[in-house]
Amino acid sequence: MKIMEIEGGKKLTGTIRISGAKNATVALIPAAILTDEEATICNIPEITDTEALCDILKELNVGVKRASESIIINPEQMENKEISEKFSKKLRASYYFMGALLGKYKKAVMYFPGGCSIGARPIDLHLKGFEALGAKVTNEGNKYTVEAEELHGANIYLDIASVGATINIMLAAVKAKGKTVIENAAKEPEIVNIATFLNNMGAKITGAGTSSIKIIGVDHLGKCFHEVIPDRIEAGTYVIIGALCGNPLKIDNVIPEHIDSLLSKLEEAGVILEVGADYILVQSGENYKAVDIKTAVYPGFATDLQQPFTVLQTQSKGKSKTTETIWENRFMHIPYLKALGANISVKNQTATIIGPTKLTGCEVVATDLRAGAAMVVAGLTAEGKTTITNVEHILRGYEQIVEKLTEVGAKITLKEI
Ligand code: EPZ
Repeated sequence: MKIMEIEGGKKLTGTIRISGAKNATVALIPAAILTDEEATICNIPEITDTEALCDILKELNVGVKRASESIIINPEQMENKEISEKFSKKLRASYYFMGALLGKYKKAVMYFPGGCSIGARPIDLHLKGFEALGAKVTNEGNKYTVEAEELHGANIYLDIASVGATINIMLAAVKAKGKTVIENAAKEPEIVNIATFLNNMGAKITGAGTSSIKIIGVDHLGKCFHEVIPDRIEAGTYVIIGALCGNPLKIDNVIPEHIDSLLSKLEEAGVILEVGADYILVQSGENYKAVDIKTAVYPGFATDLQQPFTVLQTQSKGKSKTTETIWENRFMHIPYLKALGANISVKNQTATIIGPTKLTGCEVVATDLRAGAAMVVAGLTAEGKTTITNVEHILRGYEQIVEKLTEVGAKITLKEI
């Protein structure tokens, strides 16, 4: 098991460069099998989720060539076979192979996906979308078989603006016969990145980034070159670190409008930010004002930034509230923030934070990816030493986090125990 040790209270100065977006990458890699030729994707983050998906590609006999931060995927010799439970379970995003295999071969066999235990995480909207396109879904326990004689366009309304379902239905529909419309589609920037990738192959997708996406099925998808957008959640996490420890901290290779809601909340709290075209400069300050947040689908306040943001709320003057509306179990970081000295109570889906409170380092656990990120933010802020266990969760979504933080003056080490 890996652990992180952080000597907190240090001021951080310098530049952190943001990597490619995990939540785009984990859809782009499965989507790449839809080409009949070869797909090159650059700005791929070196995170364990990327490795897990490349393992699945190899299990399907897909050619994978890795260079630094880029990948060449060639499915010309691939075989459509069952994706084992071992691989299906490694991450939530394995389910994108369901949409991609269905879209390419009209058949997919795999197991219920893995992912952080932040909720039940059903896939009913994905399966309903596949059925609307003409597929038959059967399952024996956790094993799902999705197959169709023919895939035809459909009008699909999503009861929830689900990121995963929007992307998975796009993957299944790009080669379906006729026109598909996805209404109440999710509008996250990662969806635009995937739609652009598919269009670069020759797909006909319009409306990505809005709540209505239109897809005209095509017969052939060809060679393409694509770039992953910067990771808005990684960027937001480091901006929050800058607000607490920056002296100043520059976060580079950012698309600021992708984290507009976070930046507005930070400014409301009194954080001094300089927002450039592709960077954010942040200087830590004193006496931040307590602000309330309520997570929402994009462009609302990102649920993935709720946990790191709580640490800032523990250092703000007064009573803050955080309401989580997307996931039913996304407060697992709170007991550990309280162990560090925070004053937080939780009732239903709202956490109430009274600050500022002094945080003192201690042993904490990364219960899921973004809770783990919150532990890093708290460890950097706390006086003394914080030890985080289960850091494999963090390494799934933050490329070179130890190196990036060390570079700007943090005392943080990664150890195998
Ligand atoms: C994506 O998860 C992200 N993961 C999550 O980030 C992120 O929190 C989430 O979108 C919301 O922004 C990836 O992109 C790999 P959803 P996803 O489908 O697609 C319910 C991180 O930290 N729902 O938009 O799984 C679901 O239970 C991760 O990087 C159904 O009910 O999220 C949830 O309440 C964590 N049925 C809501 O919709 C379905 O079929 C939103 O889920 C699908 C979803």
